[in-house]
Amino acid sequence: MAERPVSTLNKPDTALEMTLRPSLFSDFTGQPKVKERLEIAVTAARQRGEALDHILLSGPPGLGKTTIANILAKTMGGNLKSTSGPTIEKAADLAGLLTNLEAGDVLFIDEIHRLQKTIEEYLYPAMEDFKLDIIIDQGPNARSVRLNLPRFTLIGATTRSGLLTAPLLTRFGMRERLDYYGIEDMEKIVGRSARLLNVEIDTQGAHEIARRSRGTPRIANNVLRRVRDYAQVRHDGRITEDVADRALAMLEIDENGLDEMDKRILEAIITKFGGGPVGVSSLAVAVGEESDTLEEVYEPYLIMEGYLKRTSQGRVATELSYKKLGLKAAAGNQPKLF
Ligand SMILES: Nc1ncnc2c1ncn2[C@@H]1O[C@H](COP(=O)(O)OP(=O)(O)O)[C@@H](O)[C@H]1O
Ligand SMILES: [Mg+2]
Repeated sequence: MAERPVSTLNKPDTALEMTLRPSLFSDFTGQPKVKERLEIAVTAARQRGEALDHILLSGPPGLGKTTIANILAKTMGGNLKSTSGPTIEKAADLAGLLTNLEAGDVLFIDEIHRLQKTIEEYLYPAMEDFKLDIIIDQGPNARSVRLNLPRFTLIGATTRSGLLTAPLLTRFGMRERLDYYGIEDMEKIVGRSARLLNVEIDTQGAHEIARRSRGTPRIANNVLRRVRDYAQVRHDGRITEDVADRALAMLEIDENGLDEMDKRILEAIITKFGGGPVGVSSLAVAVGEESDTLEEVYEPYLIMEGYLKRTSQGRVATELSYKKLGLKAAAGNQPKLF
C-alpha cells in the first residue's frame, strides 16, 4: 500500500535481513550502553560457564531487538529457538518449546507482551527455578508433574514493555531499551548495507538516506533498496544526494523523514480535534489505522521529534506540527505549552 510507506518500509523482509543483519557485536552499530552491558554479561557468564540471565529487549520496531537476540545466542554458543507471543496458543506449545531446549540455548519470544496470561504463568517457574509444572491426563487421573528444565536463557522482545505484567518483568535479570539511532550511526549502517548490497553511494547520498529514515535501521535498509532501484532506472546506478532526494520524494518521505501517514495523523489532530487532546482510538479511526500501529510505530517518533505530546487526556499537537503543516491554531485554541 503506497499510502502507508512507513508500515511498508518497516516491514521485515526475511531474505534481506539475512544478508544485512549483523551477526556479531562488532558489526552492530550504535546503542553503546546497551551493547556494553550485554557484552559484559555475556563475557562474565561465559567465564563462569553459566547460562546468560534472562533478558528483555524493548523499543520500537526495526531497531535491532531480533538482531541482538541472534548475536547473544551466537556469542554464548547456544542454539536460538524463536517463537512469538501470539503463536503460543496452549500451555502444551510452551511445554514443547521448553522441553526441547538444551543447556545454554536461547529461547527468543518476540512480541512477548502478546503472550496469554494463562501461558505466562507457566513461564514464571520456568524462568526462576528452571521447572515446569504440567498437568498430564484428564479427569480423575489428572495429575501435576514437575519437570526439570535445562539452564536456558529467555530473551523477550517487545514494542510495548508497558503492557508486560509486573511478575513477568521482574523475572528478567536484564531489561534493555533500544532507542532511535542518531545520524552518525545511521550513516554507518547505510554505508555498511550499501557495501553488502554492492551499491555505489557517496557520503552525501548516505547522509540523505540516514537522515530521513526515522532513526530506524530497518527503514534505512528498505529505503536504500528503493533508492538503489531509482538510481538504476532513472540514473547511472550511483546514489548521490540528488538521486537520494528525488527517490525519497517519490517515496513521499519529506525533508524531516515524515511520510504521508505521519502528516495525516498531525493533520487529523489539528483539523478534526482542534489540536487535541484526543484519545488514540478516536485518532486511529480518523486516520484509518490500527491503534496499536499508531502507538507502536508512528507516535514514538513523532513524540521524539517534538510534533506530538502525550498527556493524560490524550494526544496534543505541538507548535511544530502547526508549522510543519502550515496551519495556524484557531484563536483561543493555541497549542498548549507543557
Ligand atoms: N545496530 C544495527 N546495526 C546494523 N544493522 C542493524 C542494527 N540494528 C538493526 N539493524 C538492521 O535492521 C534490521 C531490523 O532489525 P531487527 O533486529 O529485526 O529489529 P527489531 O527486531 O527490533 O524489529 C536488521 O535486519 C538489520 O539489518
Ligand atoms: Mg524483531
